[in-house]
Amino acid sequence: MEYLNLNKAIARLIILQRVELQSFWIRKLRKIFGRYIFTNFFSRFFIAETKINQKYYSRMNEEYKNLNNTINFDGKKILSIGPGMCGLELIINTRSKNTFFTIIEKNYVSKKIVYGWDIQNKEGYNDLNLLKVFLENNGMKNNYEIYDFDNDDLPLKKFDYVLSLYSLDYHYDFSFYQEYLKKVCTENTKIIFDTIRPEYFNKIFKNVQVLFSQEKKIHSSKRIICDNFLVG
Ligand SMILES: C[S@@+](CC[C@H](N)C(=O)[O-])C[C@H]1O[C@@H](n2cnc3c(N)ncnc32)[C@H](O)[C@@H]1O
Repeated sequence: MEYLNLNKAIARLIILQRVELQSFWIRKLRKIFGRYIFTNFFSRFFIAETKINQKYYSRMNEEYKNLNNTINFDGKKILSIGPGMCGLELIINTRSKNTFFTIIEKNYVSKKIVYGWDIQNKEGYNDLNLLKVFLENNGMKNNYEIYDFDNDDLPLKKFDYVLSLYSLDYHYDFSFYQEYLKKVCTENTKIIFDTIRPEYFNKIFKNVQVLFSQEKKIHSSKRIICDNFLVG
């Protein structure tokens, strides 16, 4: 699989979730007309889904390669927090055996997407019905479950890995999930996420390791892997 099976509606969600995949012209239109018109008009009609498909697959493949050095996904239970359209999870699914994915996401698209820190965690850029269709059309069957962060009781079971790329502590505070994660992590669970404040997590976890740094003009971050919550 070098491409994913997607349609225009899914490609639109992808460029809202992964702003770096927006073309030069789409970014220009966003700047000229503002984020409201971009989110509700241009992102619906002026998108080239084939190009987005290629770029998304290739980005997710890079993400997979970055993680694959550290993680063996075979037979693991993975909790994905804010995985967007789950391109990474789909690639993991094709390259590993007996992996189970628990997905927690938002089930709405904000009228005016804000890409910075979201104090109240009100921003969402997903549609869980479309996500389900996308997963099934790309080879996931019976090995995933989806939870709506705002409306569902989150599952209380143990996970081997928690993955949250550019979501938890990148757009909204870790504290939204802290107590929940304490309940679903064992001493062997590894939590991987992107943050601009890795040192802060030395107070929260026994072990914190930086996997790599992402230098961007506005929002430079580090991807960290943590385990074992400190008591207190
Ligand atoms: C910048 S996108 C990143 C998507 C994906 N992880 C990726 O790397 O392409 C952030 C995602 O977090 C989701 N999100 C926001 N708040 C959330 C929450 N409290 N729980 C789960 N997902 C959330 C958004 O809907 C969005 O899909």
